[in-house]
Amino acid sequence: MSAAQDPGTPPRPHAMLIAQITDPHIGLQPGPATGPLDPTGSLRRALAHVRALQPAVDVLLLTGDLADSGRPQDYAEIATLLADTLPTPADGGPRVLAVPGNHDRRAPARQALAAAMPVAPDAPGDCVCLHVEHGGLHLIGLDTVVPGAAHGALAAEQLAWLQRHLTACAGAPVLIFMHHPPLISGMAAMDACGLLQGRAELGRIVAAHGGVQAIAAGHLHRAIVGQLGGAPVVVAPSSSHQLTLDLRPDAPLALRFEPPMIGLYRWTAADGIACHFSYVEAFGPSHPI
Ligand SMILES: [Fe+2]
Ligand SMILES: [Fe+2]
Repeated sequence: MSAAQDPGTPPRPHAMLIAQITDPHIGLQPGPATGPLDPTGSLRRALAHVRALQPAVDVLLLTGDLADSGRPQDYAEIATLLADTLPTPADGGPRVLAVPGNHDRRAPARQALAAAMPVAPDAPGDCVCLHVEHGGLHLIGLDTVVPGAAHGALAAEQLAWLQRHLTACAGAPVLIFMHHPPLISGMAAMDACGLLQGRAELGRIVAAHGGVQAIAAGHLHRAIVGQLGGAPVVVAPSSSHQLTLDLRPDAPLALRFEPPMIGLYRWTAADGIACHFSYVEAFGPSHPI
C-alpha cells in the first residue's frame, strides 16, 4: 500500500506547482443549443497554457469527464494532445495523473492513458485509485464513478483503501483528487448527481489524517470552494464549457461559454497550499504598476 515513487523527485527546494484540467468532454458534439463548442481545441489551448506557465508545472491532474461518451478514439486523441503539447517528465514536463468521471469508461481510458493512470496494485475492483508521492507531497486519486450513472459514490472498499493509504502516509502532506466533489454546491440539478455516497465518511477519514492539504475536484463546471474534514474542497472549471450559476432550487441545467480556467496549486511543506484559478485566455499583456 505504499506510494509509487517518482524517481528523481526528492522534496523540492522550490515550491511545487500542480495544475488541474478538468471536464474536457472530448468528443462532445455541438448541437443547435450548444453554441461555439470546441472540446478538442479547448483542451489543446488549456494544455498550451499549462506548458507556458513559469515557473514550470511539476504535476498535471486530469480530474475526469475526459471523454464525453467514453469512446476509445477520444482517449487516443487526449493521449496525442498530451504527447504533442507537453514535454515528457524526462524533458522537464509535468507528471500527468488522471482519474475518470461519470462520462468516462474505465477500460478504454486506462488503455490509452496508462502512464497517467498508474492504478495502485491494491485498488478495489477496477477502480482507478492512484497514490503517487512526488516532491514530498502524496497525490491520491479517487475513482467516484458509478458505471452507467451520472452521480458519484465512494463505496466502503474505496474508503477502506483510502484509509490504508492515508495511514501509510503517517501524517505526511496529501493532495486528494477526484471527479465528483464532496460538497453541496446549491446547484440543485448538479447536487442531484453529485457524490451521493461516502461524503461523510470521507470527511471523517480526512479529519483523522490531518495532513490533507486540499481535495481537488471537477464535475460542476464552475470555480467553487468548500471544505470537508478541515480540508479545502476546490472545484475547478471545465477546460471547455461552464454551467450557469443559478442557485434557485428549481433551476434548469444550462451551459454557458464563460472563460475556461485551470486550477493551479502552489505547495511547499513550510507554506502549505494556495489554490489559484488561471484563465486559459490571455486577456492581453500585464501592465506593471
Ligand atoms: Fe463534466
Ligand atoms: Fe461529471
